[in-house]
Amino acid sequence: MKITPNVSLKNYNTFGINAIASSFVSVTTIVELKEALSTKAVDRKFILGGGSNMLLKNDVSALVIQIGLKGIDTVKENQEHIWLEVAAGENWHDFVMYCVNHNYGGVENLALIPGNTGTSPVQNIGAYGVELKDVFDSCKALDRNTLESKTFTHFECKFGYRESIFKSEAKDSFVITSVVFKLTKTNHKLHTEYGAIHEILEAKNITIPGIKDIAEAVINIRSSKLPDPRVLGNSGSFFKNPVIDIAEFKAIQRIYPEMPFYPVSESLIKVPAGWLIEKAGFKGKRFGDAGVHSRQALVLVNYGEASGDDIWSLALKIKKEVRDLFNIVIEPEVNIVE
Ligand code: EPU
Repeated sequence: MKITPNVSLKNYNTFGINAIASSFVSVTTIVELKEALSTKAVDRKFILGGGSNMLLKNDVSALVIQIGLKGIDTVKENQEHIWLEVAAGENWHDFVMYCVNHNYGGVENLALIPGNTGTSPVQNIGAYGVELKDVFDSCKALDRNTLESKTFTHFECKFGYRESIFKSEAKDSFVITSVVFKLTKTNHKLHTEYGAIHEILEAKNITIPGIKDIAEAVINIRSSKLPDPRVLGNSGSFFKNPVIDIAEFKAIQRIYPEMPFYPVSESLIKVPAGWLIEKAGFKGKRFGDAGVHSRQALVLVNYGEASGDDIWSLALKIKKEVRDLFNIVIEPEVNIVE
């Protein structure tokens, strides 16, 4: 285990923010991870996965521990299902393609989501009608204080829309080391209901799609709407879609009848933050090196040299405009690292 002082995190966060870690270590085994967590040399420890869902506002005065645990193992299988244990440091999209290539169904709609498998449960990643919780079986996590491994069941993870126990009660207390997924081997339950997937399959004359067709359609949609972080720094959706009261929704709908919406319950409606931000005039706007993506207003981008503060100031500006215009408060989806 080699601890290096003053390391730039620019290549370790998909926003491409040039924050400096006061010390940095990459761990590839549980033993190394325990060693790094227990080192007395630096008090504060900061766990880094794929760096795809965070905004580094400042330099990080901590030992940054980059999780490089690798491996995909079969836990058990029967005729219908296979349970795979995936180490936290496996790239999420590579894992999705591994499943697609082995004809294991369940994660194909989640293709091309940036980040690592270990952080996928933290915010219950989701896209195109599927959420991580639909295929999640359990995960193993190391208690940061006792260094003991604990298994979290599905129930214990308390999944919600882009939420889990790892963002609330258990925030900063555990390091997820592996995740077990329950995937289908036959009779795949395909989710094609999302409009754009449907359109792509129809255009290709695919009437009985397989999981590969779905993955390809999702890759197609995402690449056409969402910027590739290797080309343009970003963290996917910056804000969550807000859930508002139906009375509030109706008042806004009277002024903007075209506003898209998704009922959540009898009294609550989810509205797309991307639409609100576009209406507030931010889509495609650039402020220095911080900007709002031209094809999806929910995504903030770094044109090169934006600092964490530049992106954050833009986020606050957007938040204020959306509140002034619609009286709706939008909250970040990404973790803001102070
Ligand atoms: N819209 C606009 N303008 C925009 C963006 C969106 O008018 O600039 C409208 C669209 O026309 C559509 C609606 O808003 O009517 C919803 O847009 P979209 O289908 O693109 O989905 P989203 O709600 O903006 C969510 C997830 C994405 C995920 C997509 C597809 C959140 C915060 N984001 O976005 O997740 O890929 O659905 O399922 O829930 C991510 O989390 O990083 C992410 C990209």
